[in-house]
Amino acid sequence: MAKRAIVTGITGQDGSYLAELLLDKGYEVTGVVRRLSASNFWRIEHLLDRITLRPADLLDQLSLIRVVQDVRPHEFYNLAAMSFVPASWDQPLLTGDFNSQGVTRVLEAIRQVDTGIRIYQASSSEMYGRVREVPQTELTPFYPRSPYGVSKVFGHYITVNYRESYGIFAVSGILFNHESPRRGIEFVTRKVTDGVARIKLGLADSLGLGNLEACRDWGFAGDYVRAMWLMLQQDTADDYVIATGVSHSVRQLVESAFSHAGLDWQKYVKTDPAFLRPAEVDHLIGDASKARKVLGWEPEVSFDKLVAMMVDADLERLSGQTRRVGAVR
Ligand code: NAP
Ligand code: GDD
Repeated sequence: MAKRAIVTGITGQDGSYLAELLLDKGYEVTGVVRRLSASNFWRIEHLLDRITLRPADLLDQLSLIRVVQDVRPHEFYNLAAMSFVPASWDQPLLTGDFNSQGVTRVLEAIRQVDTGIRIYQASSSEMYGRVREVPQTELTPFYPRSPYGVSKVFGHYITVNYRESYGIFAVSGILFNHESPRRGIEFVTRKVTDGVARIKLGLADSLGLGNLEACRDWGFAGDYVRAMWLMLQQDTADDYVIATGVSHSVRQLVESAFSHAGLDWQKYVKTDPAFLRPAEVDHLIGDASKARKVLGWEPEVSFDKLVAMMVDADLERLSGQTRRVGAVR
């Protein structure tokens, strides 16, 4: 009998890669989507004939209970969230409702329907914020620096609490930044690779960015969804840091992306205070020793390969568009 999995956030970057992985492993995959006036299925278009989509919303308890009751999954991956850090200062209450109480609603749905369902919660390295130690491990104390980070700390601890209170197989994956050609366009990696492609193709002549000195531990999303699945296949539920252990600055990201396209970044990048944050997370670098040892997980895509993959994908996408409208100079 095929295993059944529910994935919230299936229309997002990670949801699309996780759905591919689960289908490859023979799962029946149900994706939870919230109602929108127009569909946004560009990341899962190629999967639509192999997955089932069900309407539900992290804000609506009954819709979550209904989908869990109907599907009776073996595994539940809670990836849905308001995930863009700057937006969390504009909408702190909604961010908390999605990312904190939304997790409680998912856990409650599982508790009420079947405590045997295994659940993965998408926690974040943003919880470390103003870091208390370098590199960060599962034991490093949290010091979040944005409403997003604060909301994810709640999501993390309520997951731990449902594990300890009700014996649910609930795990929290503390994932460091992971990227891909499917990354949302407002996140810095994709903003840079899209900007490089536009400049290269003559569609733009500059790129405005915020803090170039911030450092992140960037990995490839395809590697990270493998870790999510591995966490739910263990004998006991536990929490894991997932990271490459290598950190780069935004400036190094910019240098790498522009030079891959044969461009000198200093001619095009302008710093713009509009992209600075009220409180910054300066330097993240993770220690994934526990995941390597217990899960046997290893990242396969290096930083340089990741940047090259993303620049090439944006060049291909945009040159297709410019060919169609004949806009290349
Ligand atoms: P993403 O691309 O922004 O996708 C977020 C998903 O959540 C989308 O499918 C979105 O649906 C859905 N969603 C948002 N609000 C919802 C609601 N109220 N009800 C139902 N669905 C809702 O994010 P991602 O990069 O794939 O990240 C996946 C998860 O991992 C998130 O929880 C994020 O916070 C966490 N995380 C990400 C990273 C990273 O570097 N990518 C690192 C650590 C943790 P729509 O398409 O309708 O908007
Ligand atoms: N977005 C953006 N745009 N970031 C910029 C810019 C810019 O123009 N210029 C500099 N940055 C800096 C930000 O200040 C931040 O320090 C860094 O680039 C990374 O920003 P994002 O790519 O927006 O990601 P994030 O680190 O804030 O959050 C992502 O990773 C978290 C895991 O640590 C998101 O995916 C979160 O959902 C995730 O939890």
